[in-house]
Amino acid sequence: MSKPKVLVTRRWPESCESRLWESFDTVFNADDHPLNTEELKAALRNYDAVLPTVTDTIDADVLATEPLRCRILGNFGVGFNHIDLEAARRRGVAVTNTPDVLTDCTADIAMLLMLEVARRGGEGEREVRGGLWTGWRPTHMLGTKVTGKTLGLVGFGRIARAMAKKAHFGFDMSVIFYDPFPPPQNAIDALGAEQCGTLEEVLERADFVALHCPGSKENRHLIGAERLARMRPHAYLINTARGDVVDSEALIDALRSRRIRGAGLDVYEGEPRLNPGFLELDNAVLFPHLGSATEETRIAMGMRVIDNITAFFNGRPPGDQVA
Ligand code: DGY
Repeated sequence: MSKPKVLVTRRWPESCESRLWESFDTVFNADDHPLNTEELKAALRNYDAVLPTVTDTIDADVLATEPLRCRILGNFGVGFNHIDLEAARRRGVAVTNTPDVLTDCTADIAMLLMLEVARRGGEGEREVRGGLWTGWRPTHMLGTKVTGKTLGLVGFGRIARAMAKKAHFGFDMSVIFYDPFPPPQNAIDALGAEQCGTLEEVLERADFVALHCPGSKENRHLIGAERLARMRPHAYLINTARGDVVDSEALIDALRSRRIRGAGLDVYEGEPRLNPGFLELDNAVLFPHLGSATEETRIAMGMRVIDNITAFFNGRPPGDQVA
């Protein structure tokens, strides 16, 4: 029997590409360019499996392409807000993602953003590299202490809980959270966390607010001007979830006018083209979507996709099927 034809939309770590090459009739994206709509439609017409990632918008229009050959979208990433799951279901295309394997590294980046913005790491590095550092003095570049403060989590899924663990047990932080679908009480208690009744309560009480909710139509601009105004003036916002969960204009306004103290961002509306207003702000730390970017995790993500499509083509349910 011939091997399933597979298209990988972006370059993957070498060990993952080798395994794909051995198991499937695989085509790689040699120059790693982001695919456009026409290329994605062609992929769905010509391959049994397409392995997309966050840079590929697979909406109802793309999924409406004819004749459709693709039977599974093996997404490289845990978030799947770039894929229209309803349209995929209608077209009989299975969709899988890669949970678990990126939990710790993404939580680590959220911790790094929190520490870096609070302790002014980005500003400090710019000063040193710019040859502007004049030496130690008691009033130089004073930041905010992180240890012992209150961390407010918006969403309490896997990544939020990993951050809670690091913050509570490593930095002695009090952890509060809001999630409409909370885990069982024993999981909450094990992390020493406290559940809040509303998102507003988290915003009003936290010294650091970290976003860990999924990207979705419902969560678009969940954090806008009104909710930013609920935050404490000395508080910081950390976003490693999805850019459009926050209204960028409102956040830039709040940072510029110091209505909040700072923000640490890994994701942006319309990335990689971020709102230029962010670039002018010293109180924003800006990372280029690094959440899962470690060798270990990216290899584990690729292997997880391969496990999912291998199960699918062997007639078994993939472990991480979301549609
Ligand atoms: C994820 O896994 O969702 C990352 O943000 C990359 O897509």
